[in-house]
Amino acid sequence: MPAATLPPRHLLTLAGMPAADITALLDGATTLRAQTQAAEPLPQLLGGRTVFNLFFEPSTRTRSSFELAARRLGAMVINFDAGSSSTSKGESLEDTIATLEAMDADAFVVRHAANGIVTRLAQATRRAAMLNAGDGNNAHPTQGLLDLLTIRDHKGTFNALTVAVCGDVRHSRVARSAVHGLQAMGVGELRLCAPAELMPPPDDSDYADCDLLDDMDAALRDADVIIMLRLQKERMHAALGLSSSQYFARYGLDGRRLKLARRDAIVLHPGPVNRGIEIADAVADGAQSMILQQVRNGIHVRMAALARAVGAAL
Ligand code: NCD
Repeated sequence: MPAATLPPRHLLTLAGMPAADITALLDGATTLRAQTQAAEPLPQLLGGRTVFNLFFEPSTRTRSSFELAARRLGAMVINFDAGSSSTSKGESLEDTIATLEAMDADAFVVRHAANGIVTRLAQATRRAAMLNAGDGNNAHPTQGLLDLLTIRDHKGTFNALTVAVCGDVRHSRVARSAVHGLQAMGVGELRLCAPAELMPPPDDSDYADCDLLDDMDAALRDADVIIMLRLQKERMHAALGLSSSQYFARYGLDGRRLKLARRDAIVLHPGPVNRGIEIADAVADGAQSMILQQVRNGIHVRMAALARAVGAAL
């Protein structure tokens, strides 16, 4: 069963998600953010609910922010230790999920290296919602949503924007979810910039409407939004044919290059950041960098996503 035909409580991908649904999630996140900033008590939309975090790949931001989001809305959160669980004794993930569902889990937040596995697990749930916290290079929908929220905060609308997505696009679930989300919201122009070996394969139809560029200066010229990506060495089958310093010289974002973009351009990076390889310190820490705002928005977007997952009105 494709992700799109599964019940809407799941959040597996932004592919095929209507703009109205994305807008509702961004609006919900914005409301929760305003309440948080005003130090108002947050509606306990997840009161009495149990959320399991199952992370089979490392994570700092995504895991902590899902946990904070769930707790701030009143949920009980269990951080399932993938390394010491029965999956390491040969139990199938489906059986693990069924076991935790029998403990009245309401939502699962899952990160895994294998493409499509979170959708497969969603098919196996009876009642609980499945939220994809990143599967392989397939999807990272809450990252896509927090990127969209950060862009909307600064630019208002999407249709006049030129967005450059730069770096290791080929191995990136962040890029794919950003592209799905931006296209759903009617973005003006989408550019991808990477060395040939880090470009998606030509038959990857998700990127069919993007302009592919090898020249970073050309990719940045007059861009409104620059999304930088980490080199995902853990997903590369062969070493990159460029040293770190060669990579930075050709594809890194430094102050000179940033000046090629529009004066009010914003710079996003999902983190973790490899300073001096993808991005210079001065840019990562500069006024146009939205890296920490993305982190903050991640909490509010995940609150909205969890509320939707349990059917709570925002
Ligand atoms: C990303 C991920 O794990 O997909 N990080 C994140 O969620 N903030 C990107 C990355 O690891 O490069």
